[in-house]
Amino acid sequence: MKEIVVSAEHKYSVKFVDGWRDQLPAIFTQYSNHLVLAPASLRELLELETVAGISGKIYYLPDGEDQKSTTVLAGLWDLAGELNLNRDSVVIGIGGGATTDLAGFFAATWLRGVDWFAFPTSLAGMVDAAVGGKTGINTSAGKNLVGSFHSPQGVIIDSGFLKTLPERDLCAGMAEVIKCGFISDPFILELVKDYQANLDELIFRAVAVKAKVVSEDFKESHLREILNYGHTLGHAIEKREKYSLRHGEAVSIGMIFAAQLSVDLAGLDQGVLEAHRALLSMLKLPITYSRGAFEELLGFMNNDKKRRDNALRFVGLSDLATPTWLESVTTPQLKAAYERICS
Ligand code: GLY
Repeated sequence: MKEIVVSAEHKYSVKFVDGWRDQLPAIFTQYSNHLVLAPASLRELLELETVAGISGKIYYLPDGEDQKSTTVLAGLWDLAGELNLNRDSVVIGIGGGATTDLAGFFAATWLRGVDWFAFPTSLAGMVDAAVGGKTGINTSAGKNLVGSFHSPQGVIIDSGFLKTLPERDLCAGMAEVIKCGFISDPFILELVKDYQANLDELIFRAVAVKAKVVSEDFKESHLREILNYGHTLGHAIEKREKYSLRHGEAVSIGMIFAAQLSVDLAGLDQGVLEAHRALLSMLKLPITYSRGAFEELLGFMNNDKKRRDNALRFVGLSDLATPTWLESVTTPQLKAAYERICS
């Protein structure tokens, strides 16, 4: 079995397995009590009721981002009280990124922090959300504004889950894989050309990129920001589209924008920008956006929670696998780059 170790506030392994159920008994024996969280839509696929030891301690959540709410979280705290979850208990989140974000945050808040494990079932969850210890929920003020850094005790990745993942979600998750290729591991960009055949290798390499970055800068004081490549405009587009786009779809446009800014301001070769366009459009991901949306997007970017020192800064590239920070980018520079990426 392959595994990658992440060194954050504690060390943990991301295990790549063929048969996620087989991992559960060993986890259960380490703890006196457990609670398994999964979205209702995966109930039949997971067949959790048939897994020995789980019965009665499964809680099914609403689907998608709806589960990342204060109401759902408060319900989990009540349940934890009823089940007498104590410090020797474990929380197990099985699902996409929304489920592992919620499960991790619930584990972070119950008794000021209990252990948890992530079993991601989507590509975006495997290569991004479940790894790295960022946990949280959404509030009326925005996505992920309430959260905590609380690393899991382990992440179990079984790519078998992806066989039933809709193509659109697979491609959206692939945007985060491609991001890892551009910021750190260019061989990923070769493998993506035949992503169906290279899926396991792509997941492994993307997790390796994330694990290395998180191990060096868990709390995102600087280096971890490179994982936000394409996300500043991406988050603004998600917000403008009222979250009807997949995160990876918005990040796809955001990466084109970040690459264009990098060509304009950091000397990035135009060929690298064209490589972004070729790979992302091969996956049918959007690479352009509405020309008239600039002012609105600028407003959203100015309100981004990751904004620091009252100035817009972007992660860019000065070369392939060479991230750079584009500081104090002016509005005319942003507008010029934006217009170049519009259709
Ligand atoms: N999704 C970016 C990060 O975990 O830092």
